[in-house]
Amino acid sequence: AATAGAVYYLFGATGDLARRKLFPALFSLYKEGKLGDDFAVVGLARRPRTDEQFRSDIYESIGEFCRYKATDTELWNRFAEHFVYMSLDINNVEGFRDLNRLSGHLDDKFGIAGNRLFYLALAPELFGPVSFNLRDGGLLESKGWHRVVIEKPFGYDLPSAQELNDQITQVFREEDIYRIDHYLGKEMVQNIEVIRFANALFEPLWNNKHIANVQITLSETVGVEDRGGYYDKSGALRDMGQNHMLQLLTMIAMEPPSRLHGEDIRDEKVKVLRSLRQYETDEDVRAHVVRGQYGSGEARGKALPGYREEDKVDPQSATETYFAARVLVDNLRWAGVPFYIRTGKRLPVKTTEVVVEFKNIPNNVLFGQRHDLAPNLLVIRVNPMEGIYLKINAKQPGSDTAVQPVAMEFCQSCQIGLNTPEAYERLIYDASRGDATYFTRWDEVSEAWRFVDKIAAAWKSGAGDLQQYPAGSWGPERSHELLGEDGFHWWPVN
Ligand code: BG6
Repeated sequence: AATAGAVYYLFGATGDLARRKLFPALFSLYKEGKLGDDFAVVGLARRPRTDEQFRSDIYESIGEFCRYKATDTELWNRFAEHFVYMSLDINNVEGFRDLNRLSGHLDDKFGIAGNRLFYLALAPELFGPVSFNLRDGGLLESKGWHRVVIEKPFGYDLPSAQELNDQITQVFREEDIYRIDHYLGKEMVQNIEVIRFANALFEPLWNNKHIANVQITLSETVGVEDRGGYYDKSGALRDMGQNHMLQLLTMIAMEPPSRLHGEDIRDEKVKVLRSLRQYETDEDVRAHVVRGQYGSGEARGKALPGYREEDKVDPQSATETYFAARVLVDNLRWAGVPFYIRTGKRLPVKTTEVVVEFKNIPNNVLFGQRHDLAPNLLVIRVNPMEGIYLKINAKQPGSDTAVQPVAMEFCQSCQIGLNTPEAYERLIYDASRGDATYFTRWDEVSEAWRFVDKIAAAWKSGAGDLQQYPAGSWGPERSHELLGEDGFHWWPVN
């Protein structure tokens, strides 16, 4: 079904996110008929730009980043007509009044009933001021709905996130605030609940009686690129841990919701976050969390600079570009099952995957004496490959009794003609229909910060050595010990 018509306000319209993700997402939605024709997009940023220039930016961005190409001129022209640009000083309410007048014209021109979606692809310190000016400039007085979509990072720690939230909620109601975590828009992340709850093979086994450990890997080959200024203040724990990794963990660990509805799912996710064992002391952090920073190294025959040599990075920086942790979920379902999470820049492969390692069947008389049975694994591949993969034991053909692990694989991304929507398409579409399921609620965000802040505080006080790892390697040695101590190891990623 097409979305309810609305005006979309794109703050940060000349930025990287708009170019790489948002314009392509809007075009794909339009091409698939999900946007209808009763919409308008106002690009907003400080720098002056004509509507024509703005449209040609969009055209280029689609050429480069969209899964559909804008080769059909008639379709492109029809789409481009909906886009206008306005230069705006976000600290000056006068400009917002002009924007309000412009909105009225757009409503009339495209038959829009006053619905407004404000997309803030801005630095977090601007969320508050922009919200106030939207209100004071009269933009929230139209007769339709008013929603705000906010990009990460949502604060730097719990106090700053709280302050941000206090400001935004002076203007918008919680149910109208859509906090983006783009991992929740990924097809295979949304698939986790189907795999878990729709399969008799998994649902009954999804607990500490049958699962030995869970491993979540978000590895990247890139370094900090041109984001040194932001990243050096953030680091892997805040950039990936507080949001994407903990969100993935909640999807794996949550109890079945009473219905597959937004609030019910989010209620269950927040319970997982509340059950996380908090690392209160420096010793806790040292025992359960590893941090690393890439030094110079090499990948595919190419020399790579160390993190401290990167642009806009402090040459003495102590910012982590890698972290791994043993996370414990203290509830009846998961007591005793470690969740190992790891993420890093400049690792050997780009992948996001979840490995669920099942307990071996009771040390059995049948095979035990002669063979070391490999545990069953369920691997959920999120990105860039999409699919699931199950490792089971079977008889080696031709032998009498030899057992070997075999793989059963469903490769979603290999299937010809399957062109999965990008996370941002799904999320923009959901926000415009008022479905907040795959956005993070304030209680989730604050619980995640509470957990992460304690680790950050211990690191700040010097606990846990920052270990160097060569660019292109799998991170500090200590990350292997973390699992070794429990009798496990990281399963190699595929
Ligand atoms: C972003 C982080 O949220 O996620 C980046 O800020 C990271 O540092 C990116 O590179 C990874 O996203 P994806 O979808 O490419 O796995």
